[in-house]
Amino acid sequence: MLRSFFIALSTNAGLRSFSEKSSLGRKMSSRFVAGMTVEEALAAAAALNREGIAVSLDSLGESVNDEAHARHSSAIYHQLLDAIETRGLNANVSVKLTQMGMDFSPALAESIVIEMVEHAAKADSFVRVDMEGTPLTEATIQMVERIHARPGLFGRVGTVLQSYLYRTEADTERLLKQGIRIRLCKGAYKEGPEHAFPSKIEVDRNYIKLMSRMTTYVHPELGRPVFCGLATHDERIIDTMIRFVQQQGILKSSFEFQMLYGIRRDLQRSLVKEGFGVRVYIPFGAEWYPYFMRRLAERPANVLFLARNFFKN
Ligand code: FDA
Repeated sequence: MLRSFFIALSTNAGLRSFSEKSSLGRKMSSRFVAGMTVEEALAAAAALNREGIAVSLDSLGESVNDEAHARHSSAIYHQLLDAIETRGLNANVSVKLTQMGMDFSPALAESIVIEMVEHAAKADSFVRVDMEGTPLTEATIQMVERIHARPGLFGRVGTVLQSYLYRTEADTERLLKQGIRIRLCKGAYKEGPEHAFPSKIEVDRNYIKLMSRMTTYVHPELGRPVFCGLATHDERIIDTMIRFVQQQGILKSSFEFQMLYGIRRDLQRSLVKEGFGVRVYIPFGAEWYPYFMRRLAERPANVLFLARNFFKN
């Protein structure tokens, strides 16, 4: 119930505008958001790189409804890709299609993402298209497939699949066959039982099934697995994966664990020590509100945690 409450709040425009402008809101969000500026995000990236952790940079923003705003958002990504190249960061970028205008012009969003992926290819980096709610699932996958098939962009763009969706098993096969890199997560949006498994047990079971498939599938032309990101903080699932790696002799270089900035930092570091690839998703920027609310939805206990820290400081 609390999950639905926070997800509903995440789309409340009035509360969003009030919170994003308030200094109290910014202070609360700093637990999960690396700062308001590109420089702050790059500094967080460099600090994590020094600890052996790769990053994915996310300039926060979604549901943009005019072209100027979409172009402004994309310019920030080009700035990030330039910095990744010149500073030699172990980093890529994560982008939401609704931030690039998908809600009002899919053609605009696609042209923006093509330019971004071309830039990433030149910078020897990668663009991850985040997955949003089910009205966009098929369109997101199709767009990524088209961009991935363009000359010179193989392996430079990938997307995210959510284990709470019934369709994800088929989507996994579809993307693996094309050699498209997948980030597997559980899913953060509110979806009905017509699209998503209603119980956590089923979502988790599907996650384990899909991660096993992704890390053992050998792409016929590549002759190796398609590199994948296992995005979860669920220790039980991570332990299962570690056992699976040992049992199946899976190369550690064929996948990485991915976690969100500020969440389970202890686990991020211990996995690095054990020799696993770890990538941290670094969100930053003034439009932090919907992202922050989804983090509270995942773990309502975070509200107490934040409140305690707030009054301690
Ligand atoms: P689960 O929610 O089952 O939690 C397991 C344990 O993890 C908890 O008991 C707690 O210990 C810890 N934990 C989880 N969330 C926490 C939080 N917010 N605060 C503190 N502890 C927490 N979703 C999506 O729909 N589209 C996308 O593109 C992405 N992208 C993405 C990238 C990366 C790198 C990550 C890690 C996650 C996403 N997600 C996402 C979000 C994802 O779908 C999911 O909502 C969260 O990762 C929470 O699920 P867990 O797998 O962590 O497990």
